[in-house]
Amino acid sequence: MNYRHIFHAGNICDIVKHVVLVLLIDHLRVKDKPFFLLDTHAGIGIYDLQHLSALKTGEAQNGIYRLIATKPQPLLNEYYKILHKLNPAWLPEQPDTFRYYPGSPIIARQMMRAKDRLVLCELHIEDHYELKRQFLEDTQVHVHRRDGYEALRAFLPPDEKRGLVLIDPPYEDANEFEHLVSALTASLKRWPLGQYLIWYPVKDRPAIWRFHEALAATGIQKQLSAEFIFQEEIHGDKLNGSGFILINPPWQFEEKLKQLFPLLHQALHTPHQISQIKWLIGE
Ligand SMILES: C[S@@+](CC[C@H](N)C(=O)[O-])C[C@H]1O[C@@H](n2cnc3c(N)ncnc32)[C@H](O)[C@@H]1O
Repeated sequence: MNYRHIFHAGNICDIVKHVVLVLLIDHLRVKDKPFFLLDTHAGIGIYDLQHLSALKTGEAQNGIYRLIATKPQPLLNEYYKILHKLNPAWLPEQPDTFRYYPGSPIIARQMMRAKDRLVLCELHIEDHYELKRQFLEDTQVHVHRRDGYEALRAFLPPDEKRGLVLIDPPYEDANEFEHLVSALTASLKRWPLGQYLIWYPVKDRPAIWRFHEALAATGIQKQLSAEFIFQEEIHGDKLNGSGFILINPPWQFEEKLKQLFPLLHQALHTPHQISQIKWLIGE
């Protein structure tokens, strides 16, 4: 395991993924009943953008620092609330006062109510330790050092009967797409009504076609694919965009994504501005 998320924290892909996550959790809060969240590949939860590893790649410069230099849009209100909470000394006109970027566990935690529950899995020994430290006294959050795919078998279906699973692997394994298809097939059998958000890199287009075909062949209903492409797809070995599969998204969520993606393309001044949002299988 070589992947460490600190090198990529606050980059374009992180922003798109986290805003989508915020919008999904926000929708879960509309109903009073408790919800369950499972983050299978959680990372360390909070990232210091002044850490040497983050500075080394400088990916946050084209990501979060570019975003916060623009006028906040109402669709991003909940996301901005979390950014402000994590950076109480942040003055929008002074970008260097913004230092801490929230990972998916902190975003989820900030949006939960007293009755909701969060399970986090992180396999990397040091990252797991960091993550565990964040939530030591927190009875609503359970942190495990275990394989994220195995966690799907262990924790689904949840007692709450409603909620969201985030699957955000590092794609170090050449067979990650195959693992995803079989894990999702098994998970949907266990918990057919759960919502699932899967992130994937838009890199190798033929591999993505095969992935989508394999997903469609599972027969799982309500699979939406959404791609935020920020770079022309000339090189299949470069990260050209952020891809998502959403299973059982809220009603008309695709319309929200159709508003969100152009807004983020513009704010981030991405060289390429393509949104591809389509149902792999509808209802
Ligand atoms: C892309 S990062 C996660 C970022 C996080 N979801 C966020 O948005 O803030 C992927 C994480 O998965 C961890 N990881 C790798 N293989 C894993 C596995 N089999 N099970 C659980 N975690 C794993 C890596 O150590 C890394 O921290």
